[in-house]
Amino acid sequence: MAILEVSHIEKHFGATQVLSDISFTLEEGQALSIIGSSGSGKTTLLRCLNFLERPSGGSIAVRGETLFDAADPKTHSEREIRSKRLHFGLVFQNFNLFPQYTALQNVTLARELMAKEKGGESKESIEQAGRALLEQMGLADRAEHYPHQLSGGQQQRVAIARALALKPDILCFDEPTSALDPELTGEVLQVIRTLAEQQVTMIIVTHEMAFARDVADRAIFMDAGVIVEQGDARQVIDHPSQARTQQFLARYQEQ
Ligand SMILES: Nc1ncnc2c1ncn2[C@@H]1O[C@H](COP(=O)(O)OP(=O)(O)OP(=O)(O)O)[C@@H](O)[C@H]1O
Ligand SMILES: [Mg+2]
Repeated sequence: MAILEVSHIEKHFGATQVLSDISFTLEEGQALSIIGSSGSGKTTLLRCLNFLERPSGGSIAVRGETLFDAADPKTHSEREIRSKRLHFGLVFQNFNLFPQYTALQNVTLARELMAKEKGGESKESIEQAGRALLEQMGLADRAEHYPHQLSGGQQQRVAIARALALKPDILCFDEPTSALDPELTGEVLQVIRTLAEQQVTMIIVTHEMAFARDVADRAIFMDAGVIVEQGDARQVIDHPSQARTQQFLARYQEQ
């Protein structure tokens, strides 16, 4: 069974249709890259999956459980949305760390709040898990640093640790390296590559075409709010079948 099943998602803002009939599935342990030009709807799609936007149509299921169905208002309640969000982790382009908290606090905060609400985990065990995640990101010696004391690449790796701390079923990245200098891009891509090797289920929106092809199992090319082409990542990126995909990728080859 697919870990994620997205069926016929629609999204419009007022009269503007931003996503049309978006359907795809993702298998557990696989990575999916989403490519496409600016304004094609990539961020909106990730925001719909993370319930930061409510889709206007369609449904989203994780491990066979329907989390959202536009046709079923029972799945729309705000109370439920909060817990459903835990199925997804989201890493943003601009890191979005809390500036007033250390790297470690950024990683542990949400889990501590959850433990306070639901009981269970001790502060010590949450902190230990947070330190282990920072170590996994190559940041063991930066735990007590504040975001402004970290490079962009380090901040993004803290953001990845923070997303992993909540043990999401699916980790989503929205252009995780586009705010970084080339030399810092490499360290973040390496971390994501390692996660892919560890079979963390991921969706990666990126403009790094070689990365999208090499790290992902599957790829989707979006244009003007629709999926133009999807399939095996190497096939889509090296041998696209659709003219629009070919035109888009040709721009990257010219550079
Ligand atoms: N809150 C909103 N209200 C109205 N229109 C919006 C809103 N959010 C996004 N849009 C529009 O939806 C379209 C898709 O935007 P989106 O940010 O999803 O594109 P994108 O593929 O992520 O682009 P980029 O590569 O530049 O990040 C754009 O035309 C955008 O202007
Ligand atoms: Mg975007």
